[in-house]
Amino acid sequence: MADVKRIAITGAAGQIGYSLLPRLAAGAVFGPETPVILQCLEIPPALGALGGVAMELMDCAFDLLEDIVISDDPRTAFAGADLALLVGSKPRGKGMERGDLIRENGPIFTGQGNALSEVAHPQCRVVVVGNPCNTNCLIALNNAPNLDPKNFSAMTRLDHNRALAQLAEKAGRHSSEVRNVTIWGNHSNTQYPDFHYATIDGKPATEVIADEAWLRDPFIKTVQERGKAIIEARGLSSAMSAANAAIAHSRLLFQGTPEGEWTSMAVVSDGSYGVPEGLVSSFPVRCPGDGSWEIVQDLSFNEWGKERFEITVNELIGERDMVKDLLPG
Ligand code: NAD
Ligand code: LMR
Repeated sequence: MADVKRIAITGAAGQIGYSLLPRLAAGAVFGPETPVILQCLEIPPALGALGGVAMELMDCAFDLLEDIVISDDPRTAFAGADLALLVGSKPRGKGMERGDLIRENGPIFTGQGNALSEVAHPQCRVVVVGNPCNTNCLIALNNAPNLDPKNFSAMTRLDHNRALAQLAEKAGRHSSEVRNVTIWGNHSNTQYPDFHYATIDGKPATEVIADEAWLRDPFIKTVQERGKAIIEARGLSSAMSAANAAIAHSRLLFQGTPEGEWTSMAVVSDGSYGVPEGLVSSFPVRCPGDGSWEIVQDLSFNEWGKERFEITVNELIGERDMVKDLLPG
C-alpha cells in the first residue's frame, strides 16, 4: 500500500460533492493502492447534511477510506491536504450567466486561498470547480503566498468531455476514439472549443466530419451552452458530469495524460499564445503524472479561430478587473 493521501473537498454536502465523494473514496484519483482521508468542508448550516453524507460514506465500507473529517473551519479541512477540490460556492440558476456569480462567490476564495497557504501540504494541488472557476482560481492562488501558482488549476475538463461527446455523436463513433480537442479561455459561454487538432480514430476530425458549418456553429454553441441546457432541463446545474470531470482532471494531474494526448485545463498563463501572464485561462496541457502540467506549444489558429480565442481571453481580463480588490498586491 502507498502512503495515505489527504483530499480536501469544499461544499461537500452539495450536489457535486454527493457524486464526487464515493469516487474519491474508491480510489479514482490516486489508484487502488492508495488509501485516502476525505477532509470535508461546509458552511455551518450544511454541517447536519454533511454528517449524513459522512454516515453514508462509512456505510459504503470502502477499502481505501481511512478517515472522514467534517468541519466548517477551512484550516481543519485543508490541514496537510495533498489535493484540494474547491467546489463549495453558489451555482447559477435559470437565466443567469456564470459570471453573474463573481461578486458573491469570489470572496470565498480569498479566505480559502489563505488557509490553504497556511496549512495544506506545500505541494498540495488545488483544483477549482466553483464558478466562475477561472477567476475564482485566480483569486485563490493570489491569496496563497506559500503555494506555487502552478499548483492551482480550474476545471474545463467538463467542457472538454462535452466536446468529445458531441464530435463522437456526429461522427457515429465512441467518445473514447476522439482525442485532442482543446477548450481555450474561460469556462463560460465565450469559451472556444477548438476542433482543428482533434482526431477521431486517429484521423483529423475535420476529415471525418466534413461539415465545417456544423463544426463552426452548432458544435461550438452546444458545448458553450451545455451548462445552461442542463439547468433548464434539470432545474439544477450539472453535478454527476461535473464530479466526473473533477475526477478526470485530478487523475490526469496525478497519473498523467496518455502519450500523444492532451487535456484542457485552466492554468496560470506564462504568456503562451499571448494570454496575459498571470491570467487563469484554459489551454491544452500535458501532465507528466507528478501533479505538474505543461502547456502544449506551437498550435496555430486561423483568423476565425483567433477571433474566438481573443473574445474569451478578453472576457477573462474583464473578470480580473472586476475582482481587483480581492487580489493582493
Ligand atoms: P450546491 O449548491 O449543490 O452545493 C454547493 C455547496 O457548497 C453547498 O452545500 C454549500 O453549503 C457549500 N458552500 C457554499 N459556500 C461555501 C463555503 N464558503 N465553504 C464551503 N462550502 C460552501 O452546488 P453544486 O451543484 O455542487 O455546484 C457547486 C459549484 O460548482 C457551483 O459554483 C457551480 O456553478 C460549480 N460548477 C462548476 C462546474 C465546472 O465545470 N467548472 C461544473 C458544475 C458546477
Ligand atoms: C456547467 O458547465 O455545467 C457548470 O459550470 C454549471 C453552469 O452554471 O453551467
